[in-house]
Amino acid sequence: MIKVITYGTFDLFHYGHLRLLQRAKALGDYLIVGVSTDEFNAVKNKQCTYPYIERAEIVKAIRYVDEVIPETCWEQKISDIQKYDIDIFVMGNDWEGKFDFLKDYCRVIYLERTPEISSSGIKTMIREEK
Ligand code: CTP
Repeated sequence: MIKVITYGTFDLFHYGHLRLLQRAKALGDYLIVGVSTDEFNAVKNKQCTYPYIERAEIVKAIRYVDEVIPETCWEQKISDIQKYDIDIFVMGNDWEGKFDFLKDYCRVIYLERTPEISSSGIKTMIREEK
């Protein structure tokens, strides 16, 4: 069984997120998604509209996703890859090159981002429409 892992915030779940998860799952048989906790977002200075529990529940409900785990810090990736026996680490290509150090542990694949949609873009759009 080929196991795939990816990480993200997944706030205001959108089509770009869906396509990323769909393509990540297509690379293997079992997809684990690390969803960033509210505490980790605070460290990253990232403000979310939905709390972790809701973002995690939405991601878990996506049919391509087999398991959701909390992402609590930058350093957990190597231990997650070992603990869950991961074959492929996937991220969108906005992270191109940033996780190449994981190549010692599994395959690393950057998928092309879906153009013209992002959580932050949706937030800006909603703010401007008010
Ligand atoms: N992603 C994607 N295409 C998009 C938006 C996101 O493929 N249009 C991917 C990212 O590359 C990442 C995953 O979805 O691998 C989760 O991204 P996340 O940062 O949660 O979403 P963004 O919409 O990029 O959020 P923000 O605008 O806050 O950066």
